[in-house]
Amino acid sequence: MARIKIVSAPNALEAGKAAAEQFISLIHDKPNAVLGLATGSSPLPIYNALRDAVAAKRVSFAGVHSVNLDEYVGLPGTHDQSYRYFMNENLFRHIDIDIANTYVPDGMNEDLDAACDAYEQIIEDLGGVDAQLLGIGLNGHIGFNEPAGDFFKRTHIVELTESTRDANKRFFASIDEVPTHAITMGIGTIFDAKKIVLICTGANKAVVLRSALNGPISPHTPASILQLHSDVTVYADEAALSLF
Ligand code: F6R
Repeated sequence: MARIKIVSAPNALEAGKAAAEQFISLIHDKPNAVLGLATGSSPLPIYNALRDAVAAKRVSFAGVHSVNLDEYVGLPGTHDQSYRYFMNENLFRHIDIDIANTYVPDGMNEDLDAACDAYEQIIEDLGGVDAQLLGIGLNGHIGFNEPAGDFFKRTHIVELTESTRDANKRFFASIDEVPTHAITMGIGTIFDAKKIVLICTGANKAVVLRSALNGPISPHTPASILQLHSDVTVYADEAALSLF
């Protein structure tokens, strides 16, 4: 089993800067790299560091393609809670990537199964993902792959749990507007990435990070599958690493 590399940083900002450097050197080595990207709060320091690097002309995304992990079903890209909107606002519009080369699953497609197959085809046509960025949920989820799913799925539709919808309702006018479903890369899709970059920060992630990296490999902790991947680097702050 390959050893997971852990890069420890004093805080979330420094963890993000260190992870950004891995993406920058990948793009230097391979200017047409395919990056797998994630939303959520953990990647924001990475995206800020990448914006700074582009502004300083240390790196160019002109030849890069990106594929995002997931998207809500039924939210257009113009909706401020859609993951497409998040990516445009936090990264894409601040860097020199061609927006036509950025992919987020299509949660507006009337035929969602076809949208899942099309997303897998996009990834295959791009030659696969060179480096997939992941955050980790408090329950060990990666993408929208919740505990006790399975390890083999490709891009698929998930029904959001009531607790997830309840947690997200603060971002919407009412609970009725919170999407009931999402489209996500499966663990099988994620696992096929050549490199995995996991960003994990904050004391509240310490327990889940320990079970993901050192606990049993089980669909009850979806991120535990990463123990079997040959090239994983974890960027974490001291708070998240406090139980190691
Ligand atoms: C985001 C995603 C999720 C998040 C996870 C952690 O595209 O797929 O799995 O990475 O929920 O979220 P944060 O970083 O907000 O703690």
